[in-house]
Amino acid sequence: MSSLNPNGSKEREPYVVSGKGYTAVAINAAAKAGEYIKSRQGTVKELGTKSSARDLVTEVDKGAEQMIRRLVMTHYPDHAFLGEEGVEPGANAVTAALEELKDNEYLWIVDPVDGTTNFVHGFPFYTVSIALAVRGELTVGVIYDPVRDEMFVAEKGKGAYVHGVKTAVSSEAALDDSLIAIGFPPDRQFAQPTNLAAFQNILPKVRGVRAGGSAALHLAYVAAGRVSAYYEAGLSPWDCAAGVLLVKESGGVVTDMRGEPYHIGTRHIVASNGHIHEDILSSLKEAGATGF
Ligand code: IPD
Ligand code: CA
Ligand code: CA
Repeated sequence: MSSLNPNGSKEREPYVVSGKGYTAVAINAAAKAGEYIKSRQGTVKELGTKSSARDLVTEVDKGAEQMIRRLVMTHYPDHAFLGEEGVEPGANAVTAALEELKDNEYLWIVDPVDGTTNFVHGFPFYTVSIALAVRGELTVGVIYDPVRDEMFVAEKGKGAYVHGVKTAVSSEAALDDSLIAIGFPPDRQFAQPTNLAAFQNILPKVRGVRAGGSAALHLAYVAAGRVSAYYEAGLSPWDCAAGVLLVKESGGVVTDMRGEPYHIGTRHIVASNGHIHEDILSSLKEAGATGF
């Protein structure tokens, strides 16, 4: 659609997306997949590996992704779908898949089980993560923790909620008062030394550090003010997309580890309450742990 602007030239009208229908579909898919995943805790039959012996996949990851894909495609058969289990392991394959799909007007970005290692061990910290990007912009983000029955929902420009209660990032203004979440992806070549250096630098500066093993849930916890910040190098779009919108819509800040704005391809992420963002970036720089 186009219209004449005051100078008489044509300009594109602002693209208005009513997230409502999309959000309902995302919530429904996350709830159904979450219920299935929870019902399968402790009964995994096929434990496989992907990029390395530490990169786990089960029939539950695959089944949950198929379930979400079917539900989304039933409503929106012409939308594009980027799900973790549909992409070959490794950073290059992720970049290639994103490159291929990124120009689609509607792109669903899905991690059916974020925290598979936890799921396999019965450590109750795993989640379903579903995001919708419209013309490259994150528009809907849903993260569902089936263990605690917590549904985190964000819509661009409309705030973020957990079970109807608005979420807001925390207020700590100094690292000394902050609780920080971090993570360690399976990759030991690149990501592990970077994340270890970051950990070593931040630990003496903060109140505490937690590494729960689910990037998406950590992002939801930043949004809900349960941790002051979260960062990790070596992530994929499906780990972050929904959580990033939650953090932003809760008043937080998300960048890469150098402080550059987040985009769907960002792999080394920092999400915070905003107040301590610069201090975290300085710590990463000091540690030589920006991932670049
Ligand atoms: C992983 C988890 C983990 C993080 C890894 C992710 P997965 O996702 O989010 O916390 O450290 O980087 O790959 O494999 O359980 O979906
Ligand atoms: Ca993941
Ligand atoms: Ca996963």
